[in-house]
Amino acid sequence: EDGSLTHVVGLVRDVPDYPAPGILFKDLTPVFADARAFTTVATELAACVGEADVVAGIEARGFLLGAAVALVAGVGVIPVRKAGKLPRVAGSRTYDLEYGTATLELPAETVSPGARVFVVDDVLATGGTAAATVALLAVAGAEVIGFGALLELTALSGRQALAPLPVHALLHA
Ligand code: PRP
Ligand code: MG
Repeated sequence: EDGSLTHVVGLVRDVPDYPAPGILFKDLTPVFADARAFTTVATELAACVGEADVVAGIEARGFLLGAAVALVAGVGVIPVRKAGKLPRVAGSRTYDLEYGTATLELPAETVSPGARVFVVDDVLATGGTAAATVALLAVAGAEVIGFGALLELTALSGRQALAPLPVHALLHA
């Protein structure tokens, strides 16, 4: 390691009491805004893509990283979107948040049956967002072969929520 990930770690910004009192928010914006760090995270996750035919990035923050990973890996990218943004959908999946629910949708005609997909998001927390995305892709006939994130919040057990899917995270908190 040439210190590149150390450089990335130094750019993660801790924001106390956001979005609620007592929560320490990990703001990754400075990582994406830094050329060297952005290149490092995209390159490191692209090395985990394996035999995937395509990357799926999860709205919104997963779009940034997913597109970069896909470009480095030499594959295309599919945007998995929050509900109501797509003209035609291949599927829809509602998942639980701390307060209420959210729905993700897969654009129509993006995955062919048996397509191998690597899912990317910025953060893995409870895994609810990632699990909903994996389920959407599976129902559409894709074979999800892995999940990659920049940061894994290990205490929230997202990795277990995705098991036995291989999970790759560059940083842990
Ligand atoms: C955040 C983050 C991940 C998700 C992780 O997204 O970007 O997508 O939460 O949490 P989980 O593992 O517990 O599901 P958020 O829903 O805040 O929306 P955004 O990406 O559009 O900002
Ligand atoms: Mg998100």
